[in-house]
This record gives sequence, structure tokens and C-alpha cells, in this order.
Amino acid sequence: MIRYSRVVGTGGYLPEEVRTNEQISETVDTSDSWIYERTGIKSRRIAGAHESAASMAEIAARQAIEAAGCDPQTIDLIIVATGTPDLVYPSTGCLLQQRLGIKNAVAFDVQAACSGSIFALSIADQYIKSGAAKTVLVVGSEICSRIVDWTDRGTCILFGDGAGALLLSVTNEPGVLSTHIHSDGDFKDLLYCPLPQTSVNKNEQEAGYISMRGNEVFKVAVNTLGRIVDETLEANNMDRSEIDWLVPHQANIRIIAATAKKLKMSMKQVVVTLETQGNTSSASVLLAFNEAVRDGRIKRGQVVLLEAFGAGFTWGSALIKY
Ligand code: UT7
Repeated sequence: MIRYSRVVGTGGYLPEEVRTNEQISETVDTSDSWIYERTGIKSRRIAGAHESAASMAEIAARQAIEAAGCDPQTIDLIIVATGTPDLVYPSTGCLLQQRLGIKNAVAFDVQAACSGSIFALSIADQYIKSGAAKTVLVVGSEICSRIVDWTDRGTCILFGDGAGALLLSVTNEPGVLSTHIHSDGDFKDLLYCPLPQTSVNKNEQEAGYISMRGNEVFKVAVNTLGRIVDETLEANNMDRSEIDWLVPHQANIRIIAATAKKLKMSMKQVVVTLETQGNTSSASVLLAFNEAVRDGRIKRGQVVLLEAFGAGFTWGSALIKY
């Protein structure tokens, strides 16, 4: 039998606090109109003091497990994508495993910045296709608000907190059609976030926050995402007209619109959560996917293209028959 992986459940969690562009404009030199016009963001969610990547991951994961109607003890692999783990170790995956009380699984984290969810999904798919796992929990969970410099208007306007999850299960018909992941370590200086205690560079030790040359990142992101669309279509011998939905990483509405244009897709076929969530890094694609599944936009049998781009640079895509 040929093994494929198939999405059997999705979940998401957004913290309660809403932080609007107006509120940010009170502390840094910016405005609602500048932020909205340049990014498409109006507000973002901010985690409470009691919350963490693991606590948010737990809520999203429980929703995905419930939607799948599966016994959590059948999960044999847990992959958490996060750049904002609760601890350096144990991994957030292990913390999530403990919270869910799942005994016979292996859990680990994936660090690929904003592309983390696609990387995690790709690994999960390989495990299932090879027969090494049958049911895999994939989660992206981020508390970006804690690594953002709230005095830097170039970054603090962009990011938000949240968690998204999906459960993949083995099946004999597709499923996940293909995944494609890439990295290029030459671009570290354009987008990075140091861990103060382990950085060798004195300036990075002092900062400890996201540092980004936004406009340069923007240009590479648009070109790279255009290329990954071509790669994904070619690998599946598919025409762009066969794609029903684009579920992009939510970094900037202008980047999303450029990818949609490349696919000749109407923005009506693009799932956009950016306006009220901002960029939730590795959670964004899973949150958007969950939202569109739950509100009935994405239907069983439809073809969905997921894509993301992030620090590293890292980038990737997944083509899914839902
Ligand atoms: O998710 C991981 C990947 N991340 C991304 O993909 C983010 C990609 N980058 C972006 O989304 C955009 O580059 C930003 C939204 C960050 C910035 O937009 P931009 O159109 O690239 O603006 P810019 O950096 O070229 O700056 C244009 C002007 C500058 O002023 P001058 O030099 O023209 O006087 C900035 O100082 O806008 C100024 N500026 C702001 N003004 C008001 C920068 N940030 C702000 C701000 N409010 N928040």
C-alpha cells in the first residue's frame, strides 16, 4: 500500500488581549494608516503574563484532536514549531506532550522561524509516508510579543501571538500531495533574534530582540515565494487553476497579494488573517488554515497551497488535498 498523510483535525488559539495600531501609535512614532497601508494589519493579539508557547499549543492541539475525534494515545509523533519556546530545554514539544498526557509518542521542536509550520508539516509527512509514524500532531506556537522591541517601529507593528495545530494521519489516498522546504544561511543579518546568554556578539547580547531590515526582507520574500509556487506546481504537474485556496504565511498583505497575483488567484481564494492577528510567525499558516476549515471555506477534496518565508532565510510550501 502507498502511504499518504491526511489532515484529520485542525485547531487554533488566540490570546484575549487585542493591541490596536492606535495603541502602538501612542508609544512609537507611527500611525494606524501607515501600518494598515504598508502591511494590512489593524490589530494583533498579545498573550497574557500567565501564557506561554506550550500553554497556547495545548489549547490549539486539544481542538485539533477533538476535531479529529481521535484517541490522543494513538499519536506517535509531536512536532512543535516555535522560535519562542518556554525553555531552551526541555523542548516545547516535550512540555506539550506532558500537558496532553500522551505516553507513547516522541516529541521535539523545529526551529525555522516563520517557516516553522511548513517545516514541521514536511517532517510529519515524511514520517508518515515512510511508515515511521501513523498519527502526527503538528503545532506552531509563538509569543512574538516577548521578543519584540516595543520601541522599534520597524518591527513592533508587525508581530502577534497565537498557536495553530493540525493532526495528520496515515491513509492510502492523498492527502498531502507534496512538501518543499529550503534554507539559505547567507541572510542572517537581514532578520535575526539573538538569545542574549549564548550570543558571542556583544551587541546581540545586549539586545535580545528581533532585528530586521524589513525592506530587504520584503524583496527577497516576494521573489522566493514566487519561485516556490512554480516548484510546487511543477512537482505535481499541476496548473495554477487547479488550486482552490492559498493559505500563506501572514507577514504583509503586499507579499501575500504578490503571490496571489503570480497564481492568478483572486484575493477571495486567499485566506488572510493578518488584519486582526499580525504576523504570528510559525503559528500563522496553521491558524489561517484552521480558520478557513472551521468557517467552511476550505472543503474536503479541495486543493490548498500553504507557503511561508522566514528568518534564515527559510522557506517552504505544502500542497494538500484536504
Ligand atoms: O515573517 C518573516 C518575514 N518578514 C517579512 O516578510 C517582513 C517584510 N517587510 C515588511 O513587511 C516591510 O518591509 C515593512 C512593513 C517592515 C516596512 O515597509 P516598507 O514599505 O518596506 O518601508 P521601509 O522600511 O522602506 O520604510 C519606508 C519609510 C522609512 O522612512 P524614510 O526613510 O522614507 O523617511 C521608514 O523610516 O517608512 C518609515 N517607517 C515607518 N513610518 C511609520 C518604518 N516603519 C514605520 C512605521 N511607521 N511603523
